[in-house]
Amino acid sequence: MHVDILIKNANELITLAGHSERPKIGNELKELGIIKDGAVAILNEKIVALGKTKEITKKYDADEMIDAKGKIVLPGLIDPHTHLVYSGAREDELTLKLEGVPYLEILKRGGGILKTVRLTREASEDKLCKEALDRLNNAMINGTTTIEAKSGYGLDTKNEIKILRVYKMLDEKHPIDIVPTFLGAHAIPPEYANEPQKYVDLIIDEMIPKVSKERLATFNDVFVEKNVFSYQQGLQILESGKKYGLIPKVHADEFNDLGGAKLGAVVGAISADHLLNSSLEGLKLMAEKNVIGVLLPATSMVLMNLKFADARRMIDLGVPIALGTDLNPNCWTENMQLIMTLAVYFLKMTPAEAISAATINAAHAIGKAREIGSIEVGKKADIIVMDIPNHQYIGYIFGRNLVDTVIKCGEIIIREKIIRKKF
Ligand code: NIG
Ligand code: FE
Repeated sequence: MHVDILIKNANELITLAGHSERPKIGNELKELGIIKDGAVAILNEKIVALGKTKEITKKYDADEMIDAKGKIVLPGLIDPHTHLVYSGAREDELTLKLEGVPYLEILKRGGGILKTVRLTREASEDKLCKEALDRLNNAMINGTTTIEAKSGYGLDTKNEIKILRVYKMLDEKHPIDIVPTFLGAHAIPPEYANEPQKYVDLIIDEMIPKVSKERLATFNDVFVEKNVFSYQQGLQILESGKKYGLIPKVHADEFNDLGGAKLGAVVGAISADHLLNSSLEGLKLMAEKNVIGVLLPATSMVLMNLKFADARRMIDLGVPIALGTDLNPNCWTENMQLIMTLAVYFLKMTPAEAISAATINAAHAIGKAREIGSIEVGKKADIIVMDIPNHQYIGYIFGRNLVDTVIKCGEIIIREKIIRKKF
């Protein structure tokens, strides 16, 4: 049979098969479903066959042959937590942080998220699109094939909608698939500084209905934090989103334990993210309700408080965990390879666990595990080749782009580190 693309001779074909229905927990994170000397056949954007090279090459031939000898083949990386669209930069805050000014203090002074809100409100859709395309290209070069992306730098109806429309444009323009999240509850905008509950009402009465009507988002997220949104406000916003078909997510317990992990379980969130200060009770509830913990080690690094999520405890408790970049102006990386490295050294996750968390479990965290996140017949052909002999090199060689080839939706967009198309 003739197919579009045949990948063969992979040292390790890392399938991560068998976990499309529910995320991996505990020891399952270590099992990668590896086929040694593996091959994959791709036709019409989909994976049509996989197995040992000998068997697959007997049955299939293709115009495009990729020889993965000495390399590993795995699903495209999935980034389940980004704030992709924002304008400008905040490089000056790095020096402030080094001088000891805490993140929440910078925000209180009108910097941080609020500075980015000012710049993003001023920016046209075109400008935002251009800035974000550059980031998407960097993500793609580093092996990411699907990204979740939040609004949250508009903080008024017009600008939140503007950002979400930009996501629609980007999704059409760029091969990376974008799954949009409404994050109107990212900060209290200056206009409502003295009456934050009025801003909560605006989110509920105006923004959510509009976002839902225009079908601009899949998820609804809230930053539950001291001086930002309370547990009660988070609950209110996420419950009203549910009535409009928006699935809840939470920025939970990043600086203070306000019960964010518990909130995720109570509202039936698909994920609760950050989790640096979560209570045992909250984590247990997450495990019970299968709420995915999206861990963001780069954020811990840039906050410089040396506090990392307790991934080992979560794994022991049976919390399904995923990894993300948290790409934003305070944590500017598009690179999921770097995130896996940080996960290995600071979250003490094994390379195998990091791979599971950056592929199939990340797919679960954005509700896409039936389509992507593993190499299985019928799934979308989002596949990368990495120039390392086995998966234990993840985290071991770092600071170098190990991604050699990227196949997105059955099309080779990067081959041997050369981009075939410009976006
Ligand atoms: O996930 N914590 C809240 N939001 C982002 C940071 C956004 C920003 O600083 O611009 C986060 O870390
Ligand atoms: Fe975030």
